[in-house]
Amino acid sequence: MVTRSASSFRLLSYLVVLLLLPLLSFAADPDPLQDFCVADMSAPPLLNGFPCKPASEVTSGDFFFDGFMKEGNTTNTFGVNLTVGNVLSFPGLNTLGISMNRVDFARGGINPPHYHPRGSETGVVMKGKLLVGFVTTRNVFHSKVLTAGQMFVIPRGLVHFQKNVGEGKALAFTAFNSHMPGAEVLPFTLFASTPPIPNDVLTQAFQVEEDVVKSIKSKFAS
Ligand code: GLV
Ligand code: MN
Repeated sequence: MVTRSASSFRLLSYLVVLLLLPLLSFAADPDPLQDFCVADMSAPPLLNGFPCKPASEVTSGDFFFDGFMKEGNTTNTFGVNLTVGNVLSFPGLNTLGISMNRVDFARGGINPPHYHPRGSETGVVMKGKLLVGFVTTRNVFHSKVLTAGQMFVIPRGLVHFQKNVGEGKALAFTAFNSHMPGAEVLPFTLFASTPPIPNDVLTQAFQVEEDVVKSIKSKFAS
């Protein structure tokens, strides 16, 4: 038989869970429950990250990353190079809910429209002049030309880009509230997926003839 105090307790528990639910859904990566959890990259990922290396095998080197020291090679279609400092390249970030990128731009280079499904992005321009823009879910475009020392923020999941509008090279560092924010780069997502999105879907979506779709696809064919 359920006593009155047991049913009040259950009601209270439901209320607490209901109150906490919005907090959980506002979080980016889940909060860690330990000081660190250096990823064991030889193990398959768990639900929300990699398993931790045994503490006895963790060294100081696990907490430092020198991948951003060198300028990236921007000799490519977009004139941009992203050096990614996420959990895959820097296992010490595992479960900490943060990561960074180094973004090098050739003169006129563009980091093409893309979005990060699992994190908001902030960034600081270190060198050059960048046009930074993003579009809201109501199709409002926000943009500004930034120079060294100026920062920007891109809310999670919104399509954004940076374009070098200066006279020389440009450099920015970006940071995310996820150890693996992920990225869908729209030209590749739409025109270079595997298997490909059927041409008639793209012609209808963009209201263009098939030769336009074929021509864009051919530029991204690997
Ligand atoms: C820039 O947009 C980045 O994703 O690093
Ligand atoms: Mn980005």
